[in-house]
Amino acid sequence: MPHGAALGRSPHIRGFLYASDACAKVAERLPVIAGSDSSVLIVGETGTGKEICAQALHYLSRRSAGPWVAVNCAAVPVELIESELFGHVKGAFTTAHSSRHGLVKEAEGGTMFLDDIDCLPLLAQGKLLRFLQQQEYRPVGCNAVQRSDVRVIAASNRDLRVLARQNSFRQDLYFRLNVLPIALPPLRERREDIALLAGHFVHQFDQSHGGGDGRRLTAEALQKLLAHDWPGNVRELRHVIERSVLLATGDSIGADDIDIDPDLDADEGAGVGSGELAGESFQSAKKRVVDRFERQYIETLLALHHGNLTHAAHAAKKNRRAFFELVRKHQIDTRRFNDAS
Ligand SMILES: Nc1ncnc2c1ncn2[C@@H]1O[C@H](COP(=O)(O)OP(=O)(O)O)[C@@H](O)[C@H]1O
Ligand SMILES: [Mg+2]
Repeated sequence: MPHGAALGRSPHIRGFLYASDACAKVAERLPVIAGSDSSVLIVGETGTGKEICAQALHYLSRRSAGPWVAVNCAAVPVELIESELFGHVKGAFTTAHSSRHGLVKEAEGGTMFLDDIDCLPLLAQGKLLRFLQQQEYRPVGCNAVQRSDVRVIAASNRDLRVLARQNSFRQDLYFRLNVLPIALPPLRERREDIALLAGHFVHQFDQSHGGGDGRRLTAEALQKLLAHDWPGNVRELRHVIERSVLLATGDSIGADDIDIDPDLDADEGAGVGSGELAGESFQSAKKRVVDRFERQYIETLLALHHGNLTHAAHAAKKNRRAFFELVRKHQIDTRRFNDAS
């Protein structure tokens, strides 16, 4: 039987669709958070919808007519990020042939989205903190203080508390950003959203590729989508649907039209870089990658479940004792996660 989402009635807030309780709670808070001017920190694995949430906040806020400026901190070279954000004066560094405004200035009156904030170098973190506290900054090489009225929304797929403990992220900046936290669970923990999102993407791609005829996913296709773990979250689902919409020739989209790329199953974060491998034994490389994966996995779950071992173990589909063994092995202090909200 063909299956599809009734798009007109799909619950969404500014394009952020939700069916699961977890996302309904997020959606409910968006207008409230949009009404404030405090910093927001959105955490969640890659592809969980951090940017679309941030955009919704901007367009729900009094700043909606102002600029929306998105910066990916991981994509800007470390030595340029400070000038990218805050601008520079002529001669501030060898390639600064003229002075330039930074993105903070460009975002005046609007919202600045700092994606992958964990990649911001420590020096720039200090400058950002000062900016958040006083709305003041100095362009690189400039003594005069400038002011700018910008709301900052930061996002990360890493646990900034852990990074703060390791001194690679400033704790004071973490606290400052975390005034209004939003946590987006991975798609595999909110499978109720899969059908809604899949139906939405089918509709979207059908229309943009000129199909337009309202094709539906068959029940078998939906089953196949529900059985997958979606390590790339909503972004991966979107890609899979786009491909199937392009390739399906019938008037509905069946299980055979859905091609889930097994390569995407590999967790990027736990991947082995060829550089790291040079001269390392298989056993040691494997142990390193597995250790890192285990630690990240456990910390993520503990963070999501506010340090509650029983809930975290349940989400991991492990028994509490085996889960606790892992926590002990990695010497993770679960109390760190208790105050999460
Ligand atoms: N709840 C949602 N409703 C509609 N589209 C979504 C939702 N979550 C994610 N998407 C879409 O999935 C893709 C990835 O989302 P994005 O916000 O870029 O994730 P992230 O910033 O966490 O990596 C985007 O195309 C986005 O529009
Ligand atoms: Mg993103």
